Amino acid sequence: MHVLAIETSCDETSLALVEIGQRSSASPARSQTFLPNVKVLKNIVSSQVKIHAPFGGVVPSLAKREHIKNLPLIWKQFLKHPIIKKKKVDLLTVTVGPGLEPALWTGITFAKELHENYFEKRIPLVGANHLHGHLYSFLLTQKGISNFQFPISNQKKLFPMISLIVSGGHTILGVLKNLNSFKKLGETKDDAVGECFDKVARLLELPYPGGPKIEKLAQKSSFAKATEDKRERVQFPSPMIHQKNYDFSYSGLKTAVLYYLRDAKYANNTRMSRKKKADIAASFQGAAFKVLVKKTMRAVGEYGAESISIGGGVAASKELRRLLNHETRLPQTEAKLRNPIQFIVPPFEYCMDNAAMIAVAGYMAHKNKIQHPLKANGILNL
Ligand code: KG4
Ligand code: ZN
Repeated sequence: MHVLAIETSCDETSLALVEIGQRSSASPARSQTFLPNVKVLKNIVSSQVKIHAPFGGVVPSLAKREHIKNLPLIWKQFLKHPIIKKKKVDLLTVTVGPGLEPALWTGITFAKELHENYFEKRIPLVGANHLHGHLYSFLLTQKGISNFQFPISNQKKLFPMISLIVSGGHTILGVLKNLNSFKKLGETKDDAVGECFDKVARLLELPYPGGPKIEKLAQKSSFAKATEDKRERVQFPSPMIHQKNYDFSYSGLKTAVLYYLRDAKYANNTRMSRKKKADIAASFQGAAFKVLVKKTMRAVGEYGAESISIGGGVAASKELRRLLNHETRLPQTEAKLRNPIQFIVPPFEYCMDNAAMIAVAGYMAHKNKIQHPLKANGILNL
């Protein structure tokens, strides 16, 4: 089926047209390992990063204004696509939460208008959970290529899968027994990891969004090339790392960087060198990721996982990907696993907010008859 999706939960305006198919299988055993065949036909993302950057974060009223301006412009480009022209769309879906409510409403209102005026209510319109989008983004591959041409379709076993969702608003670890059964194992008790990157970036006088800037700066650190255990010479805490649960906490790490910078400033009374800043960025990044990797790998052991998937803006980090890739190839002493397990990452473009992942989330909601009210729900969770 063809799914048209709309995403406006934060500071990206996005529309996507995705072809999603179901492998026909009558066997109940097969339905446990059900994987839809997903092919992105068109995905346009209009980022508002430059507009929000001077404010150091997303301003909801500006986000709303930009979405209202961008949605019709993106739609105009979709109108050229033959499937849209011929109205061969089978499902319309829109993010209803979580996110900024004024921003969410723009997408919902636009979806309702399309549903009524363009599609004349001939197709279903369903609400999608943004977090399901990140959760299922591992099913997406490069535009025009079906995920069945991608190695994951050939894997004998993918589940149980440990899923790590790391974004500007969320840090969630969970286990997927199959595509329809997600169990949350833990989440952040305060700041999300992406939010922590953004706040620390501000302390280091780097522009919003902070994650990519910190990653780039950290690559210039002399520690970046050091051996694994010497990568964080400035000792920052990795909160909750020793607690035998799957929760996280990032506000203490941000405060530790704040105090370190304050003390360094008073001690030297000079402007910090770029090299020193790079070392702080690398050390912070190392401390932030250490706890994510540790708890993910512990969950792999406890649940006998066959794979790990990551999603959300922070999953775009090459360093986080490198660390998890390294771990999944190591002999699993703690986990006592067969090796190696699969580590599945979406292409970079589907880590940050996008409507292609919302198409999958909407498709799954429709398939499983989950009805989210078509109202903005800023605190919708998994
Ligand atoms: O998923 P996303 O686009 O929006 C939310 O749903 O929150 O994630 C945005 C977050 C921002 O906090 C940004 O700083 C972070 O993802 N991010 C990164 C990297 N790229 C983006 N964090 C760390 N390293 C990166 N390379
Ligand atoms: Zn997101």
